[in-house]
Amino acid sequence: MTRDACDLDWETAAAMLAWQFDLGVTEGIGDAPLNRYELEAAVPKPAPVPDTAAASTPAAESDPVAEARAMAQAAPDLDALAEAVAAFPHCELRRGARNTVFSDGRANARVMIIGEAPGREEDQAGRPFVGRAGQLLDRMLAAIGLARDTPDPQRAVYITNVIPWRPPQNRDPRPDEVAMMLPFLERHVELAAPDLVVVVGNIAAKAVLGQTGITRLRGTWGQGLGLPVMPMCHPAYLLRNPIAKREAWADLLEIQARLR
Ligand code: URA
Repeated sequence: MTRDACDLDWETAAAMLAWQFDLGVTEGIGDAPLNRYELEAAVPKPAPVPDTAAASTPAAESDPVAEARAMAQAAPDLDALAEAVAAFPHCELRRGARNTVFSDGRANARVMIIGEAPGREEDQAGRPFVGRAGQLLDRMLAAIGLARDTPDPQRAVYITNVIPWRPPQNRDPRPDEVAMMLPFLERHVELAAPDLVVVVGNIAAKAVLGQTGITRLRGTWGQGLGLPVMPMCHPAYLLRNPIAKREAWADLLEIQARLR
């Protein structure tokens, strides 16, 4: 169906927009409408691209987790690790993302925060936690004197995610995707060497502590990757459930007390 945009009344236009939103369309990429059914007939399908990574990799190394571990362990510092993550060819999320979102904040901070995966804003900016949830995270950290943009290592935080690429429609990362990116996260924590880790949300808690059920786990110190780990509810959850902010405040005070 083609229809001149000028024919539409406000309600119809809003309903059509809402329908596209329901289908998962998250952004407009052109001003003029395109009939993609016509385009499909007119444009020849591209020839399949040979998987050079798989072709040049010996059979013994084609296990993505083993390959991730080898690449991560070979990285001598955080810059090299960031390059290794960006070059890792086996996670299909990489193909749909604009940017590899590696980290933000100060690498020698005492506190390292681990989230789930970038959302739309993070994918665009190439930095973790810059959207609404990230802004809330910044305010939460500021409430106990911490910040990602301070030069003072005592007050600084370092932030990353379990997954460095935005999953489509912000779906949860799959267990196989987490498993193949985990060796990079482990090396990331090793190289950043914080005093303690804060995991926000179930995906990060599962990756670092091996447990889920964040509303039950939150507020109690655990041990993961050789460090004390505080599980907290994800700031996106706190935006949807403001009542849970009271518990998050108690968790923040725990962190503050531990840093003293
Ligand atoms: N949610 C996350 O878990 N990480 C981000 O970087 C942004 C939103």
